[in-house]
Amino acid sequence: MTEPPLTFAVPKGRMLKPLIALFNNSGIDADALKSDDRRLVKPSADGRFRFLLLKPDDVPTYVEYGAADVGVSGRDVLLERDYGLYQPLDLGMGVCRMVVAGPKHGKPRDVPRVATKYPSIAAKYFQTKGTPVEIVFVQGSVELAPLVGLADLIVDIVETGSTLKENDLVIKDEIHPISSVVVVNRAQFKLRSAAISALLKGLRAGLVAQSPAQGAQSPG
Ligand code: PRP
Repeated sequence: MTEPPLTFAVPKGRMLKPLIALFNNSGIDADALKSDDRRLVKPSADGRFRFLLLKPDDVPTYVEYGAADVGVSGRDVLLERDYGLYQPLDLGMGVCRMVVAGPKHGKPRDVPRVATKYPSIAAKYFQTKGTPVEIVFVQGSVELAPLVGLADLIVDIVETGSTLKENDLVIKDEIHPISSVVVVNRAQFKLRSAAISALLKGLRAGLVAQSPAQGAQSPG
């Protein structure tokens, strides 16, 4: 009997291009992902995969509920909520840092206000530090919040540092390194173990092929 395709949740946006490059190096037929159309389900021509194109934040949800067997998610999303997922491989791609940042000078409120897209990560961080804060949830352009008095600090992702710099903000502390992680549905990890192992083996080889040092260091 022919194996049914693995359903693979793939994030739209800035990680898609580097992921397609990795897939090409990993023996994964990802040509379907290159087509410029609005279809959200894209089967690979060889029948091995059925790609789902998702908002990055939704990838772990689709995999957790079994709507996808595997996916690629940012560690930021995985840290923000407790998903019941296997995380067998850190791709070492999309590397950035989760930080606390704020203006260089200026007096914060007695109970500082912290703007963030990551309320749970921020709350845990300040709880661990024993610092009472008020968390304000925002969807994006987080760096704006301290500039206009919405918040004293932000918890956000920094990649190149240009957004902070151009808005006169500085890093106050680093919370966690972030990169892209392969996530696998727990039940499918057992039921489709041969196909998933082959996929992980291919991805590890692909990482080595495109960057020998990175592949060798990649855990899992
Ligand atoms: C992300 C992040 C920072 C910025 C960091 O935002 O939230 O704002 O990138 O990148 P940098 O250090 O290279 O400047 P994104 O571009 O995803 O948009 P958003 O502000 O709407 O979340």
